[in-house]
Amino acid sequence: MKVLITGGCGFIGSNLVRYCLERYSDWEIINLDLLTYAGNLENTEGLEDAYPGRYTLVKGDIADRVLVADLFDRYSIDLILNLAAESHVDRSIKDASAFMRTNVVGTQILLDAAIRHGTGRFVQISTDEVYGSLGKAGKFTEDLPLEPNSPYSASKASADLLVRAYIKTYGLDAIVTRCSNNYGPYQFPEKLIPLMVINAYNNKELPVYGDGRNVRDWIHVKDHCRGICMVALDGKPGEIYNMGGRAEKENIEIVRAILAYMGKDEGLIRFVKDRPGHDFRYAMDFSKIESQLGWRPEIDFEEGLRSTVDWYLGHKTWWEKIISGEYMRYYERMYGNR
Ligand code: NAD
Ligand code: DAU
Repeated sequence: MKVLITGGCGFIGSNLVRYCLERYSDWEIINLDLLTYAGNLENTEGLEDAYPGRYTLVKGDIADRVLVADLFDRYSIDLILNLAAESHVDRSIKDASAFMRTNVVGTQILLDAAIRHGTGRFVQISTDEVYGSLGKAGKFTEDLPLEPNSPYSASKASADLLVRAYIKTYGLDAIVTRCSNNYGPYQFPEKLIPLMVINAYNNKELPVYGDGRNVRDWIHVKDHCRGICMVALDGKPGEIYNMGGRAEKENIEIVRAILAYMGKDEGLIRFVKDRPGHDFRYAMDFSKIESQLGWRPEIDFEEGLRSTVDWYLGHKTWWEKIISGEYMRYYERMYGNR
């Protein structure tokens, strides 16, 4: 089976490429990635040699219609797993342009290609953020209306609606997955957990937005990858599947847990100006995928967090290269006057 994974050099994408190659020996993976600031060749290093003939990287833009058409002509794709995206909420607040181009137009171009080439199945990797924000109680279910609050989540919700339209209008075999906050190896250090681990290691302040009481439902990236593959293989056409980690935590709890595990002082914590439109709480009801496909998260959060901290401490050269240069200019822009 020929599987197109887009965004396969990013955080979840690279974990997914590796998971698919290990788990499904008859899958050939084509990874289409633009290698933006978030895409890193080191995330997939060695895969061509480890899996001869089964892994190909194509550097390119999902929003480039000519390139995408050419790629679909060259490979006869059976399955598309669309992960390519601009993924960081704070960046979308500064400038939403790239989010609209990649997350909306890019998805439309891939959907068109899937229709034109009769691709077997399209799986759109979406996010819990499309549902908006919860108060202290309740959980997101698949039938809730979409109420995105950031330019990022609005772009992901738009893509979800396009997928729905292509199912209804053209009869495309497509499925949307919506997952909560992932953590694990290879996550770009602009995101909460790697940022806090690296700052703590460097004895730098840990910038916690607002009062730190916002809640996210954390899932290990490996559990998410397993779920994506189960949906791709056995999900029902036209459905939406939520995934979550059953690990709701306040941000401040996570930051304290990281400091405690690393033996660092809580004096490093600094409460900074809140993110505009900051969603208060996400929590996922994943009973649908559990009852239909037998998926549930397996990695315990406390254990997963420890192994993730260990991974970053053991891969200093990976993140040192990232936090030098361009990323540090972003860091100054984001946190300089906060
Ligand atoms: P990421 O930012 O780490 O990686 C995104 C990847 O997409 C990078 O490799 C980048 O180079 C590539 N890319 C960006 N624009 C592209 C374009 N125009 N054409 C081709 N490639 C392009 O993101 P991530 O955290 O791994 O998220 C992957 C997907 O999963 C996204 O669609 C995101 O919305 C979704 N998601 C993420 C989370 C999470 O917690 N990180 C949770 C749920 C859903
Ligand atoms: O819920 C799924 C989403 O999770 C994905 O769709 C997004 O692609 C992914 O980026 C993530 O979005 P969040 O905005 O929840 O993740 P982030 O790591 O940016 O922030 C997590 C929480 O931590 C959030 O409440 C904001 C807070 N935070 C974040 C940073 C970077 C801080 O307090 N300080 C920080 O420096």
